[in-house]
This record gives sequence, structure tokens and C-alpha cells, in this order.
Amino acid sequence: MSKFIIDGGKKLYGDVNIHGAKNSALPILAATVLCQGKSVIHNCPDLSDVKVSLKILKNLGCKAKYYDSSVFVDSESISNFCIEKELMSRMRSSIIFLSVMLAKLKKANVYLPGGCELGARPIDLHIKGLEKMGAVILKDKDCLLCSLPKGHFNGAKISLSFPSVGATENIILAAATAKGRTVIENAAREPEICDLAAFLNKCGAKIKNAGKPIITIDGVERLFAAEYSVIPDRIEAVSFMAFTALNQGKVTIKNINVSHLAPVIELLKESGCRIKIYKNILSVESNDRLKAVKEIITMPYPGFPTDAQAPVMAMLTMAKGKSKFIENIFKSRYKHIKELEKMGAKIAVKGKTAVVDGICKLSAANLKCTDLRGGAAVVTAALAGEGRSTVSDIYHIERGYENIDLKLVSLGAKIKRID
Ligand code: UD1
Repeated sequence: MSKFIIDGGKKLYGDVNIHGAKNSALPILAATVLCQGKSVIHNCPDLSDVKVSLKILKNLGCKAKYYDSSVFVDSESISNFCIEKELMSRMRSSIIFLSVMLAKLKKANVYLPGGCELGARPIDLHIKGLEKMGAVILKDKDCLLCSLPKGHFNGAKISLSFPSVGATENIILAAATAKGRTVIENAAREPEICDLAAFLNKCGAKIKNAGKPIITIDGVERLFAAEYSVIPDRIEAVSFMAFTALNQGKVTIKNINVSHLAPVIELLKESGCRIKIYKNILSVESNDRLKAVKEIITMPYPGFPTDAQAPVMAMLTMAKGKSKFIENIFKSRYKHIKELEKMGAKIAVKGKTAVVDGICKLSAANLKCTDLRGGAAVVTAALAGEGRSTVSDIYHIERGYENIDLKLVSLGAKIKRID
């Protein structure tokens, strides 16, 4: 099992390039299944989840290749309507293949998806939406046996009880080649939804108002492959902002979309960091002890992102005063707190509220990554801890951060990966 060895206390200086968004690349790779011809998707990060998507595409019979941040997919040869259990269990996004398999093959056998354990992660909204569009979905233990008796999805009006990102994506994908108009009410508005819609529209889809609460999709008969570049990863950017804010120094974060980071930028300013923005570049400067931030409430986009909660919490463990977090999206998204406490952090949790009482010093410890973003929190704290920390279970982090150790070393951190 690989580990990071981190000698804490180094200030961070330099430039870092942000890779493409994992959470955009995964649904866009699934979308290529719908397209005739050869799709080329640029700015795909070299991450284990992207590799799993390629394996799923190949498992379905498509041709898929990764080269130098680009994925080449030819889905003409798709033939298999089952995804292996092991691949389904590797990540949550495997469930996004359900709609495209049904649209293309009229049949799909998939297992319940894996991914970070953040509490119950039901897929009822995905299933209800696809059923309303004509899919028949039978559950047999942990397997979903799905079919499309009419041979196509029907347009439908779907009102989501919660703006689920994954359910919105699955419904958009089903609607792109459905017969008729689909209207999604209370749709997720995340930038990754807009990115998926932009790719599909480039392929010939008719999707209007992605990024707004009501999305309208007029189904088209065919989609044609296109070349497309995915948006920057806003959560990788947030993580480098948190690393810099806690460890002090000055880091210029490049290749980002600043508008996707608005609530995090405000929070960093409130904590005392100096932020400068120029087009798609942002610099974070932190010279003093941070100030606590009154309240951080995670919400669907454009609210404060749940994926940023863990690294920002680590960042505030040494701030002056008390910072209150309210996690509204996932029930078990405070697993990193136990690890931060090993370093001396003072955090009181009650239900979905966590209050961080800033301390003056974090001490090195033997730590482990509890999940993907929790892992980023642990690394944030270990970089600031006095002494040498070890961080195990780094496979969690490597699902979402390409070469995180090398990027941190280039900024002056002392972090070593041991295999
Ligand atoms: C996506 C992101 C994840 C991010 C999350 C919220 C990907 C690969 N992952 O996850 O990084 O943290 O959005 O921004 O894009 N829910 C239901 N029923 C459903 C679906 C969801 O009750 O059928 C609930 C979930 O349990 C959770 C909430 O809705 O409490 C949000 O989940 P959702 O937006 O679907 O997140 P994901 O798409 O899984």
C-alpha cells in the first residue's frame, strides 16, 4: 500500500496548473457511447477514476485509448450490455453509464455503484427519472436488470426532489436521444452539468438552460462524435487554495475558471488571505495566522461545495477563533475529523454541525485518508503539522488528484510517496 511521508512546516511558493475536472470528464466519457464516430476528449486528468471509465468503455465493447490528457473513444463496436461488478464498485460515476447503455443497447445489467462512503448514497432519483422515461428497472440483490421495451426513451417532465448531480446527468443523457421533449425541474446547476450539456450540444443534442433550475432537452435521432475539452477541476483548485492558506506563502493557481470558485474565494478573503485574480489565474497569499470563519454551509451549486468542506476545515484548524460548518449534502462527510484530531485539532461534532476551535499548533501523526476529499484535508493538515507525518490509504486521494505529491514538491513542500 502506498503512503505519503510529509515533513510539515514548509511555506508554499510557486505556480501550479490545475487539471481537467474529474466530475466533468466521467459523464462526458459516458456520453461518448451515444455518439457515432470517434470522440476526442481533451483535458482529461490522469486519475484512477478516468482509467476505470476507459475500462468500462472497453468492457462494453467500445475502443478507448488515453494519451497525453486526451481520451479517444470509438463506440461503434459497442456490444456488451453488462458492466463487471468490480468496475461498478470502483466509483459512483459508473451508474452514469446506465442511461447511455439503455439508449444505445436497449438493455443494461449493472450493479449498484461504489465510490466514497459518505453515508447512504441512494440512486432512487436516477431510477425514478429513467423509469418515467420508459425504462423498466428490476432489482435483483445488488444487480439492476434494466430494459427499454419501446426501444427508445420517451421525453418526460421530471421534477427532482433534490438537485442531484448524478441523477440530472443520467436524465440528460437519456433525454438527448429520446423521442420528444424532457423537462427537468429542480435540476442540479453545477458547472459539470453545463459541461456535459455543452459536449452533447456540440454532438448535435438540443439541450437548453443547463446551469439553470429548469433544463429542457429536445431529443434528437442521432449524435455525432466531437472533439471537446473539459473544464478545469474546481475542487483541485480549492485544495491548492487551502494548502497555501494554512501553510502560508504565495501560490499562483493557473488554468481555472474563477467564476466556479466564488464562495471559496469569499471564504479565503474572510479568513485573511490575499487573493488576486487575473482572467483564469488566481494567486493566494497567506502571511499570518488565519482568522476563523463564522459559518460554512454546504449547499448545491452555486452554494459552498460539499467537496470543499474537508480541505477548508483542515485549513481552519489553526485559525484564530471558532469556525462553524454545516454539512447539508452528505450524512457521513466528517470522517476526516478523527484524523485531524490525531494532530491535536479541536473539533466538536453534533449531527451535521462541526465547530472547529482553532489551535496554535498541529503535531505530526500517523494518518490515513478516509475518502477522496477527506484525504485532501489530511494532507492539508499534515503539510502544516510539526514533525513527520505518514499518510496511508492514499489511493483515495489518487482518485481525484493527479500527481498531487509532485505538484506539492514543486511548491516547496516536503512530501514523498513510498510504494
Ligand atoms: C456528485 C459529485 C460529488 C459531489 C456531489 C455533490 C461526481 C462524480 N461526484 O456526486 O463529488 O460531492 O455531486 O455536489 O460528480 N441523492 C439521493 N438519491 C439519488 C441521488 C442522490 O437521495 O438518487 C442524494 C445523495 O445521497 C446526497 C445528495 O442527493 O445526499 C447529493 O447527491 P448527488 O448530487 O447525486 O451527488 P453525486 O452525483 O453522487
